[in-house]
Amino acid sequence: MSNKIQAIRGMNDLLPEQSAQWQYFEGQMRQLVQRYGYAEIRTPVLEQTALFARSIGEVTDIVEKEMYTFADRNGDSLTLRPEGTASCVRAALENGLLHNQTQRLWYQGPMFRYERPQKGRYRQFHQVGIEAYGLEGPDIDAEVILLSARLWKQLGLREHVTLELNSLGSSDARAAYRDILVSYFEDHRAVLDEDSLRRLQSNPLRILDSKNSDMAPMLKAAPKLLDHLDSASREHFERLCGILDAAGISYVINPRLVRGLDYYSRTVFEWTTTALGSQGTVCAGGRYDGLVEQLGGKPTPAVGFAMGVERLILLLDTLALVPEDACPRLDAYMIGMDEAASKSVLLLAETLRDACPTLRIQVHCGGGSFKSQMKKADKSGARLALLLGEDELARNAVTVKWLREDRDQQTLPRQELAAELIELLDISA
Ligand code: HAM
Repeated sequence: MSNKIQAIRGMNDLLPEQSAQWQYFEGQMRQLVQRYGYAEIRTPVLEQTALFARSIGEVTDIVEKEMYTFADRNGDSLTLRPEGTASCVRAALENGLLHNQTQRLWYQGPMFRYERPQKGRYRQFHQVGIEAYGLEGPDIDAEVILLSARLWKQLGLREHVTLELNSLGSSDARAAYRDILVSYFEDHRAVLDEDSLRRLQSNPLRILDSKNSDMAPMLKAAPKLLDHLDSASREHFERLCGILDAAGISYVINPRLVRGLDYYSRTVFEWTTTALGSQGTVCAGGRYDGLVEQLGGKPTPAVGFAMGVERLILLLDTLALVPEDACPRLDAYMIGMDEAASKSVLLLAETLRDACPTLRIQVHCGGGSFKSQMKKADKSGARLALLLGEDELARNAVTVKWLREDRDQQTLPRQELAAELIELLDISA
C-alpha cells in the first residue's frame, strides 16, 4: 500500500528549476537594500503569541483566523510569524537597537498564515521587507517608496504596478473618524453583509476594504478619512505627495485603503497589479509610529513595507521578465573515459578550481560508458566537455569538446589548461 507523506496544503517546495528565478529576485533586492544603506536582520520564525496579538491587533483576520498557534512542551503559547514587522520591533527593542539612534533594517524569510490557498496566496509564503526607525518626517516614507519603485524599474515591472496611497492620520483623528463612520454604516445597516456587521463595532475601518460588490456604491459614498485628518498628518501626507511628485512617481490616492493590520498610523500604501487575478498586492506597508511604544519601548517613529516574493516571482514569470542567464550555467563537464582516467578527473578539477575561482565545473561521478557520460554532459547544460582518456593521460593533456557551439575540438597540455579555459570561455581568472 502506498502511503507517501505529502507536503502541507498551501506550503510549497521550491524546485531546482524555479530557484533561478528566486535567486534572481533575491539578488536584485539584496543589492538594492545595500545601495540604500539598509542592514539585514534575521529573527526566529517562532515568537510568543502575545507579540502578534498585541501588535497586529486582536480583531484582525490574521490574529482571529490565520495564525499557526500552538502550545509548546512547556505549555507556552507560540505562533509561527505571520509577518515580519512585529518580530523586527521586538528584536530591535530587545537588543537596544532603537536607543537614541535611527535604524534602517531589512529582512527576508518565510511567513505563515492559515488562509485559503489559491494562486498567489499560500500558507507558507515569503516576504522581503524593510523597516526604518527613529525618523518621523515624510522624507523616509518617500525613501521606502522610492526604493520599491526602483526595484520595479530594475525588474522591468514599472508599467505593470500601481501605487495606491492613503493616510490614516493620528490615532485621535482615527478615533473621531471611526465614530462618524460607524454612524454612517448604522444608517446603511441594511446593505451591510454579515462580515461587515461583525466588524461594525470591532473594526469598522476594515469594512471600507470589503470586496463585496453589492456594498460598493455605499462604500464609495462613505465619509473619507482623508477629509478628517488632523492637521499634522495632513501636512505630512501633502509633503510626502510633494516628494513623490518631484521624483516622478505616480500614485493613486485611495481613501479606502486601510490595511489589514492595526498598527498603522499616517501613511499607508500598496503596490498592486492587475496581472495576477485577485491576489494583486505585491508590496504593502506604511507608517506605524505607535508600535514600538505599544511593545514596551520609547515612542519611536517607524515606517516600512513587505513584498510577497511568490507573487512577484509569479508576475515576473507571467511577463517573461526573468533573464535567460539569471542562473549561470555550468562552464564545463569533466569526463574520465576509462577507469584510470576517472581516478584523475576529480583532482584535476580541483586544480582548475584553484587556478580559476570563477570556473563552474562539474565532474562526472558514477562511471558508465563514454556515450552515457556524454549524454550527462549534454544534459548538464555545460558549454564544453573536458575529456580525459588513455591517450590524454599518456600525453598529459585534456581534450576540449564544445557541446553547444560549432567549434573545433582541441587537445591542450594540462599545464596550460586553466589559462586556456579562461581565454576560451571568456571568464575572469
Ligand atoms: P501584509 O499586507 O499583510 O503586510 O503583507 C505584505 C505582502 O505579503 C502582501 O502585499 C503580499 O504580497 C504578501 N502576502 C501576504 N499574505 C500572503 C499569502 N498568504 N500568500 C502570499 N503572499 C502573501 C505586512 O505583512 C506588513 N508587515 C508590511 C509592513 C512592513 N508594514 C510595515 N512594514
